[in-house]
Amino acid sequence: MAMGERYDLVLAGGTVVNHDGVGRRDIGVRGGRIAALGAIPAASAGEWIDCTGLTILPGVIDTQVHFREPGAEHKEDLESGSRAAVLGGVTAVFEMPNTNPLTVSAAALADKLTRAQGRMHCDHAFFMGGTRDNAHELGELEMLPGCAGVKVFMGSSTGSLLVEDDNGIAEILRHIRRRAAFHAEDEFRLRERLSERVAGDAASHPVWRDSAAALMATERLVRLARAAGKRIHILHISTAEEMRFLAGHKDVASVEVTPHHLTLSADDYARLGTKLQMNPPVRDRAHRDGLWAGVANGVADILGSDHAPHTLAEKEKPYPASPSGMAGVQTLVPVMLDHVAKGRMSIERFVDMTSAGPARLFQIAGKGRIAAGYDADFTVVDLKRSEILTDAWIASKAGWTPYAGMAVTGWPVGTIIRGNRVMWDGELVTPSVGAPVRFLETLARG
Ligand code: DOR
Repeated sequence: MAMGERYDLVLAGGTVVNHDGVGRRDIGVRGGRIAALGAIPAASAGEWIDCTGLTILPGVIDTQVHFREPGAEHKEDLESGSRAAVLGGVTAVFEMPNTNPLTVSAAALADKLTRAQGRMHCDHAFFMGGTRDNAHELGELEMLPGCAGVKVFMGSSTGSLLVEDDNGIAEILRHIRRRAAFHAEDEFRLRERLSERVAGDAASHPVWRDSAAALMATERLVRLARAAGKRIHILHISTAEEMRFLAGHKDVASVEVTPHHLTLSADDYARLGTKLQMNPPVRDRAHRDGLWAGVANGVADILGSDHAPHTLAEKEKPYPASPSGMAGVQTLVPVMLDHVAKGRMSIERFVDMTSAGPARLFQIAGKGRIAAGYDADFTVVDLKRSEILTDAWIASKAGWTPYAGMAVTGWPVGTIIRGNRVMWDGELVTPSVGAPVRFLETLARG
């Protein structure tokens, strides 16, 4: 470290996890970017944070959240959703297009970016919904500043976005160049099996939306992507069979798993009822084991929370009138660090799945790595701290979590975004600094 260098911020004495391994390093930040790594003299910093005993990860990027604005702000909005994110140690989010109006046009994307300005606490990008109607324009729409790419629902879920047939998917793939994200459940099979739903029994949700529906859609999608020569990202993989199938298709397909599919199982419907109702469903333990196998062997690329808030009143409607989804952006880090504490994955693999992985798949500019020149985004955690997750801690307007009462070891204590200490020790200390994420494929545009 050169003597006499000045930094705006120094994180001192923490254990840093990056591409170089795990080790004690100071981090110097200047102008919102990482300027130095190593031993930094105390005198050279504007702000000095003693991170002794803490672990510093590259900022956690959650590439699947539903923040409900515009259209369902009683469940969430961009301010409350991003507050939940930073309180949970998340530094950037990619938000989904099934809002009302749908994010299916340049105007709708611009509206979200305007709403985010000065209100969102974390960095952000928005997915563009792919439809039959806008398919021919998607090659342009996906290149707009602040766009994370195209998202397609092959099976219907919350909202009205749906492209269920091969021709529709092929048409979308034909027009795009970036990696597109897909909700892969086979709509035709879901329609055939509607009678499998048992009134009042959320445990019938995975019987209706069975593993075959997920596998069929994923197989169709991979075939179409290969034919089109395009990259695809398959969201929230929920079955052991898909994970085995996708091991043969890593050249075209990237894979997301969620904390809830890795943590909860069909055994929990008796306790949680419709709170556990998600699309695709939480399934039995054999599927959960299959997902963990995909974490262990690398077929699963990244973790996404699929933060999908609904109010308790909505969830209390008797199944199947109850909506699918649960809040998850705030609990991603503690729930997964608990898996790290229990030896189910390494902290390096956690970073691979929450920072390096998202940056690699989505070609994020200047994030996902603790290295000189990168954005100074950090998730500061205490790997030894034990806490009990509670509904009261949940900042989402939903106000509840399926993990209420669960003891975890590993806790987010700081969220630093481009050198701003946004969250520290549970307090939102620097609000509203969120900015659009930039992407390599659209650098020239913003
Ligand atoms: O359970 C879900 N809820 N899955 C989805 O794909 C959508 C989400 C929502 O927006 O509520």
